[in-house]
Amino acid sequence: MKRLSYIKVFAPATVANVASGFDVLGFALEKPGDTVELTVKPEKKVRVTGITGDSGMLPFDPEKNTAAVAVESFLHSMDWPFGIDIKLHKQMPLSSGLGSSAASSVAAVYGVNILAGEPLRITDLLPYTLQAEKAACGTAHGDNTAPSLLGGFVLIRSYNPPDVIKLPVPGGISCAVAHPNTEVNTGDARKILKKEVSLSKAISQWGNLAALVAALYKEDFDLLGRSLKDVIVEPVRSLLIPGFDAVKAAALEAGALGCSISGSGPSVFALCSTLNTAKAAGAAMQESFKQAGLDCDLYISRVNKRGPVVLEKR
Ligand code: HSE
Repeated sequence: MKRLSYIKVFAPATVANVASGFDVLGFALEKPGDTVELTVKPEKKVRVTGITGDSGMLPFDPEKNTAAVAVESFLHSMDWPFGIDIKLHKQMPLSSGLGSSAASSVAAVYGVNILAGEPLRITDLLPYTLQAEKAACGTAHGDNTAPSLLGGFVLIRSYNPPDVIKLPVPGGISCAVAHPNTEVNTGDARKILKKEVSLSKAISQWGNLAALVAALYKEDFDLLGRSLKDVIVEPVRSLLIPGFDAVKAAALEAGALGCSISGSGPSVFALCSTLNTAKAAGAAMQESFKQAGLDCDLYISRVNKRGPVVLEKR
């Protein structure tokens, strides 16, 4: 069989943490997302040869670019005798809380696995994306990369060894993400978190997280709404998001099941039982951010069950 020499892959943006699941829960969106083009080259080297949509902000250095880090660590572990040229097309804002660095590394490693003849199962690609996250922000968390790679809601029970569980996606469930035009660096947003939590807060948090998982299995939207609560991270990080309390109140008033910070922010997500409610919650959040003096982009999407998509290969 002729080997492929080129592939173009899309991987979706994600909402990580989902309120109570800091670093262990996330879900994928239909849009936005990133696209990468990978071309096999005879020289055993990974190069970033083009980046669009980043306003010149992303590094070409293969040790710093998340797509290149993921591809490099994959090729290294496979001892593959070729190199790869990467073109990256950013189709979402950077430092937005939408898993931008994760979508790039997922699209890249998903593509290179296909170019290499699919030696690995999709779940086995996760460690390469964790390497990329570590290069991007200092810690190897996978609550963005795992749902971007697998689609749907994904729970990370353990990082070492990786133990990743795909959860059910109740019919109709949709999301509005409001991205105010300000940036929050993930590394900085992690440094401000307290390293210890009180037992009473931990009890509240794991009660909510367990109930959230149960709600997805039971397709119980009332329980899901009651469970979308974060008593540990949101109270600290929301201080970085102007108007957060009013934005959240506006989403809930418009019918959202729950509302919290997407990833490390500044985006705010509202999970809703229907696409129409997500549209209403999104408009309410946008208006509320406007009153706080911030323009915002709005992404309305069903929860994406598929993960990456191959757009072209030859
Ligand atoms: N779980 C991560 C965090 C996601 O909240 O810092 C952001 O990449």
